[in-house]
Amino acid sequence: MRILSGIQPSGALHVGNYFGMMKPSIELQDEGDAYYFIADYHSMTSLFDAEQRRRNTREVAVDFLACGLDPEKSVFFKQSDVPEVTELAWILSSLTPMGLLERCHSFKDKKAKGVSPNHGLFAYPVLMAADILIYDSNVVPVGRDQKQHVEVTRDIALKFNQAYGETFVIPEPRIRDDVAVVPGTDGQKMSKSYNNAIELFGEQKPTRKKIMGIVTDSRPPEEPKPDADQNIALQLLKLVSTKEVSRDYEERLIRGGMGYGDLKKKLFECYWDFFSPARKRREELNADPAYVDQVLEQGALKARDLAVKVITRVRQACGLS
Ligand code: ADP
Ligand code: TRP
Repeated sequence: MRILSGIQPSGALHVGNYFGMMKPSIELQDEGDAYYFIADYHSMTSLFDAEQRRRNTREVAVDFLACGLDPEKSVFFKQSDVPEVTELAWILSSLTPMGLLERCHSFKDKKAKGVSPNHGLFAYPVLMAADILIYDSNVVPVGRDQKQHVEVTRDIALKFNQAYGETFVIPEPRIRDDVAVVPGTDGQKMSKSYNNAIELFGEQKPTRKKIMGIVTDSRPPEEPKPDADQNIALQLLKLVSTKEVSRDYEERLIRGGMGYGDLKKKLFECYWDFFSPARKRREELNADPAYVDQVLEQGALKARDLAVKVITRVRQACGLS
């Protein structure tokens, strides 16, 4: 089984990224042939600062390694080190109906939020399809917001296979229901772009402030809260604490008598401890930039090797060679 996923270097990684994509990907390293990459080409649709892209790319590399991505088990690389993927994106583009892209929620959402879309943003699911298909991927671990893009990938692959003969493996999304959508501090999906994200490795003080600012209702502490499972802080606490701790806090909410402030304090404490080992490892990695470079270089060699094989098969199939 080949597993593949990618993450954009478009800003600091957050708890939603970790539970939705990074943790499932790290766990899958032991179950097959894993390929994980930093989607720097994708970041070009929304980030227009070269130095920032370089910095973010390195940070994502360090953070992912710190969280447990093991380069002995996974091929870890930078998307643009395998430029064949852009050739495949063009080939797939010519088989992609406009309507398929016009229906994509992520594009529609960004447009609705007032982002003036460039062609790259519109065409991005095609590049994502190329990312997946160029490594003959079977399984794609992502958060729920990316499911539609994997479905688009399947449609495009089937179209190609129909037009030019069996060429591509048809991939499947792997979405963990328990963490499919991690809520942000305002209750919407946690996202870098909604200013509601709890960073994985933010400074202690601002992160505590962010957590203490999680939106809650105005019911007094003593009032029982039978709808405790709707509480954002509790939902997050369930991710970063033991079952005993989260059950205890859930029961206290249901019973009444505990203020939301106490719950948030506990959440901060558990969050801080949960990411503590990774924080330490991150410091070590930051002190050894040559190691990180070497991991990405070696990953790129392996990834490119496979991508060249697949693009050669594709070129043959569609009459480019
Ligand atoms: P963002 O919305 O912050 O820009 P990305 O689109 O870069 O995040 O997402 C990177 C990966 O993290 C994707 O696989 C995505 O599904 C996952 N992810 C992002 N936010 C969440 C969330 N709030 N809950 C679960 N998964 C998420
Ligand atoms: N589109 C994904 C995101 O924004 C990142 C990504 C790019 C990706 N190519 C991919 C994820 C291929 C999985 C497979 O989060």
